[in-house]
Amino acid sequence: MIQRIDWDDKLLLHVPEIDEQHKKLIQITNKLYTAASGTQEQYKKEMPDIIKELVDYTVYHFDSEERFMEKYNYAGLAIHKLQHENFVEQVKREIQKLSDSDRQDGLQLYVYLEKWVVNHIEKSDFSWARVIRPALNTPQKNTGFSARKLPAQTAAASQHAS
Ligand SMILES: [Fe+2]
Repeated sequence: MIQRIDWDDKLLLHVPEIDEQHKKLIQITNKLYTAASGTQEQYKKEMPDIIKELVDYTVYHFDSEERFMEKYNYAGLAIHKLQHENFVEQVKREIQKLSDSDRQDGLQLYVYLEKWVVNHIEKSDFSWARVIRPALNTPQKNTGFSARKLPAQTAAASQHAS
């Protein structure tokens, strides 16, 4: 029995813009599960739109993720981009094989998509998020930095004086 995989907060990168996109991507993927688990008529009717939405959103999401990595000069960008490209190519190949009369193929595609997406977030996306996240939290001006440093500096200074 194929299980539906829902969003889990353990997948959070704590990069809000990208986390929202990942949630949406899993949501769209789950539409495929719902359609493929329903009636034959429902599947036939809904599958083409779901597939289109899935491909369009994946391309959009990968593009914004790559622009994000670019903005923060992530060193692993080229390899990451390649993973995205390979996935899109593979998904397109799988879609060619789909028939709107075979829900089982739809479910198999669902399993492949969910596994890839979850694995990709947990491994590859976590890697860039770990590197980029500190840059996101760094205050734009030095004021935040010196405000945090001030008590320690004062303490050190008074210790030194005594
Ligand atoms: Fe990614």
